[in-house]
Amino acid sequence: MSGKKLLLENIEIPGIETFEIYRKSGGYASVEKALKTMSPDAVVEEVKKSGLRGRGGAGFSTGLKWSFLAKPEGVPRYLVCNADESEPGTFKDRYLMEKIPHLLIEGMITASYALGANQSFIYIRGEYMWILRILQQAIAEAHQHGFLGKNILGSGYDLELVVAPGGGAYICGEETALLESLEGKRGNPRMKPPFPAVKGLWGCPTVVNNVETIAAVVPIVNHGGEHYASIGIGKSTGTKLISACGNLVRPGVYEIEMGLSVEEFIYGDNYCRGIANGKKLKACVPGGSSVPILPHYLVCKTEAGQDRLMTYESLADGGFKSGSMLGSGGFIVFDEDQCVVRNTWNFARFYAHESCGQCSPCREGTGWMEKVLNRLEHGHGNLRDIDLLADINKKIEGNTICPLGDAAAWPVAAAIRHFRDEFEWHVKEPQGAQKRNYGMIEEKSTTLA
Ligand SMILES: Cc1cc2nc3c(=O)[nH]c(=O)nc-3n(C[C@H](O)[C@H](O)[C@H](O)COP(=O)(O)O)c2cc1C
Ligand code: SF4
Repeated sequence: MSGKKLLLENIEIPGIETFEIYRKSGGYASVEKALKTMSPDAVVEEVKKSGLRGRGGAGFSTGLKWSFLAKPEGVPRYLVCNADESEPGTFKDRYLMEKIPHLLIEGMITASYALGANQSFIYIRGEYMWILRILQQAIAEAHQHGFLGKNILGSGYDLELVVAPGGGAYICGEETALLESLEGKRGNPRMKPPFPAVKGLWGCPTVVNNVETIAAVVPIVNHGGEHYASIGIGKSTGTKLISACGNLVRPGVYEIEMGLSVEEFIYGDNYCRGIANGKKLKACVPGGSSVPILPHYLVCKTEAGQDRLMTYESLADGGFKSGSMLGSGGFIVFDEDQCVVRNTWNFARFYAHESCGQCSPCREGTGWMEKVLNRLEHGHGNLRDIDLLADINKKIEGNTICPLGDAAAWPVAAAIRHFRDEFEWHVKEPQGAQKRNYGMIEEKSTTLA
């Protein structure tokens, strides 16, 4: 795998965060090309051809989402960039915005033109305040050089771009909660339908896209949708930013070609270089805290024995029985010393804290799961607690307004499915659990329910 880069290619150029150097390195060419030589519909067509799928987690086709945008006469349309990035294990958008902010601004201008938006927003996680300033500086520079404001490059197209800080709540990353928050209200998810493409910001047609999705529009317009689609495998086209963390020799943010093998990503010299301190791989959560955990023997191979690839399809191979998801690209690796029960409790604490409380199954269920996992982890649980957790899980899943409920339920279900022995061990050997000496779970004793 050649390791082609489309987004981070120029990231090492000194001064690339400034307009001057970014422009000298070929920056803003997609804006020139789109505004001077393409109609908005032609840009949407290229994005459709590229096969680009949303990089915020769900992997929905970007071209299709754009083509759903309602276009009633006399009503403004908005593009909102989702830079909330609060999913544990995910820090790729932060890296992109911090190192090469003009790539996002360029993508915002080209995408706004395609969608017919004259006012666009970047909603950024409240804790990323220093990046908000970096983006504001980049916007001011783009203004000065005629890439924002009235009559951009003499094309007759006008665009204003505003960066808005969030209040630091994970739920504000959910697109409709984000819109509520942007409107100045409490960030509670809305019932869907109507979807934002029909009724979004201030009731107007709106597209919400992730930072990386919008940045990918730049190489798509520059080199054409077909070129983008020629990279990757099947319906997973182009490149993907992965934030790798946990017990790795070289954690960090990597741009990979879709289709890279998981084995090469974890052990390859160009990527994470294996498990730190010569330890063994125990488990991996490949797509942020919301996706199912994979035990070591399902990380690099599927249940059918095929190589596991970094694609939407391959990571999901085996469904919830033996697969996971690419999700937000937050790749979390656990070595043999890590405790799955403790980690599951840690994630559960996060979801219980972040539930907005609108629906009872999520509000109550996430709190119950946290309590039960807390007592299991601390040696006060009993064997019935494990089935109780599975039962609470079923009652949350699919019964809530937004996917946060599912996101809280899936990791617990997968942890019990693959590591039931470890949960039972916490009940049978509470003193051992307190000492934090876990070791590897034998493959043969782990049930694939
Ligand atoms: C609880 C929750 C949190 C989310 N957080 C984010 C986030 O931080 N960034 C993001 O891009 N998408 C997030 N999403 C997904 C968004 O709702 C939405 O699908 C996404 O921004 C669409 O952009 P895309 O099509 O480019 O992926 C979250 C979803 C949920 C349910
Ligand atoms: S699922 Fe949870 S976070 Fe989502 S709307 Fe319901 S209570 Fe709020």
